[in-house]
Amino acid sequence: MRLLVCGGAGFIGSNFVRYTLERYDDEVVVLDKLTYAGNLENLREFESHPRYSFRLGDIADPEIVASAMDGADAVVNFAAESHVDRSILDPSGFITTDVFGAYILLEAARRAKVTRFLQVSTDEVYGEVIGEASREDALLRPRSPYSASKAGGEHLVQAYHATYGLPTLITRGSNTFGPYQYPEKLIPIVITEAIDRRPIPVYGDGQQIRDWLFVEDHCSGIDLVLRQGLPGEAYNVGGGNLRANLELVERILDLLGRSRTLIEHVPDRPGHDRGYSIDSSKLLALGWTREPSFDAVIEATVRWYADNEPWWRRIKNSDDYQTYFQSNYGDRESLAARR
Ligand code: NAD
Ligand code: DAU
Repeated sequence: MRLLVCGGAGFIGSNFVRYTLERYDDEVVVLDKLTYAGNLENLREFESHPRYSFRLGDIADPEIVASAMDGADAVVNFAAESHVDRSILDPSGFITTDVFGAYILLEAARRAKVTRFLQVSTDEVYGEVIGEASREDALLRPRSPYSASKAGGEHLVQAYHATYGLPTLITRGSNTFGPYQYPEKLIPIVITEAIDRRPIPVYGDGQQIRDWLFVEDHCSGIDLVLRQGLPGEAYNVGGGNLRANLELVERILDLLGRSRTLIEHVPDRPGHDRGYSIDSSKLLALGWTREPSFDAVIEATVRWYADNEPWWRRIKNSDDYQTYFQSNYGDRESLAARR
């Protein structure tokens, strides 16, 4: 099979490329714009792999998309602006990529007559969920510019299935963590700031609940849906590890042998969803299995960041990162000095 992986140079996408090349004889073409989150270092080991190739380009560009999709049997779309805090600072890129970009991919896919089109979506489309876990038929009630743009992309995917018969699939993954995650998301921020003994920013009271999913389990879930899912359907991919943010932060500090006094409660994220929870029984019924020990995978992740300092230090020293950090958290140096 020839697989077009859009956004394959990002966190989950690069893990998925590795997952696929190591297990199948498929040919993998990555199409990626290399935004601040895209990083060819994530795929360096495949540079000269005979079944891997890379195309630089924007999923919102119809010509590049048509050319990259030429000869593809299946498309998996990871490409997105993916960070909630950035969507609050400036939603525009989220609409362009997560909604309009999805539309351009869908148009090209129906012309190219691909046999599978998988849209990687998120549990955040269900909106704030406290209590009963959402099943796939629940209403979508997104509450951030990020989740609203992901829901917009999903609606287009469903429309292309209903209207044009495109064989689409949707996965709704929960909070993913593991190697190669850009250090703007909670787990890599906590690990890397803690390594440097800097204050750990916890939004509000830190009692918000997320369902943590190891990246390899997310990839195996996407892979299973791609190969065995029913066209037109959506599948939840949850980690089964509900944790309050504060509890998770404390666990990571303990693993690194850092004091909990590093925790700094900072002003809450506007519109912050207090909880997410999804029911993954539909995917489990398809034969999906996931890592049973959260401890094992969080420890492996902490170890990966400790062993790969040059990877994240290069990112954290970049102008883009410093500008974002300042815009989102304000002056952290003075915060550190106050301690
Ligand atoms: P990421 O931000 O690490 O990577 C996104 C990738 O997409 C980058 O390589 C970037 O360069 C590329 N990209 C962005 N805009 C593009 C464009 N216009 N054209 C081509 N490429 C573009 O994201 P991630 O955390 O790996 O998430 C991947 C997908 O999974 C996203 O669709 C996200 O919504 C979804 N998701 C993420 C999580 C999570 O916890 N990280 C959970 C569930 C679902
Ligand atoms: O649920 C799936 C989603 O998970 C994905 O669709 C998104 O792409 C991904 O970014 C993630 O969204 P969250 O907003 O849940 O993840 P984030 O790592 O940004 O934050 C996790 C929780 O930690 C959230 O409640 C906010 C909080 N937080 C986050 C940061 C960055 C803090 O308390 N402090 C922080 O500095």
